[in-house]
Amino acid sequence: MRTFLLFAFILAAWLSFADAKLQNVTVKGVAVCNKKRLANAKVVLIDKDTLDPHDELASIHTNKEGEFELYGEEDEIGKIEPFIRVHHNCNTQPGCTRVTEYQVPQDKIGSTYDMTYVTLDIITHNDKNNC
Ligand SMILES: *[C@@H]1O[C@H](CO)[C@@H](O)[C@H](O)[C@H]1NC(C)=O
Repeated sequence: MRTFLLFAFILAAWLSFADAKLQNVTVKGVAVCNKKRLANAKVVLIDKDTLDPHDELASIHTNKEGEFELYGEEDEIGKIEPFIRVHHNCNTQPGCTRVTEYQVPQDKIGSTYDMTYVTLDIITHNDKNNC
């Protein structure tokens, strides 16, 4: 019983401190491959969560100008850690897709991260090929 009371007390104290805040971010840019705008690439905005599985906040395909714009918001204790995941076929083998991820800088939370040109030719260290 004493253990239970202690646990309840700690939980209550923790809850009163940790109030989740609604946070948002807008990410936009132009997907580019071989100096051309890349249409119809899937761009997903995800919040990296330590406890939950990663939350998908928004998803869109680039338009014929290669442009995308995503808005996401989430209630979270502490800062959200969003990143975008681009599914594309820039310089891949036929029938393959490549997945490239970009972190959203913390100072863009609550405002807009304008990536301008997202050059997908560049292979980042955590690129994944799906064939
Ligand atoms: C996004 O968050 C910022 C900072 O908290 C806030 O000022 C702004 O109103 C929010 N925008 C929307 C569309 O909720």
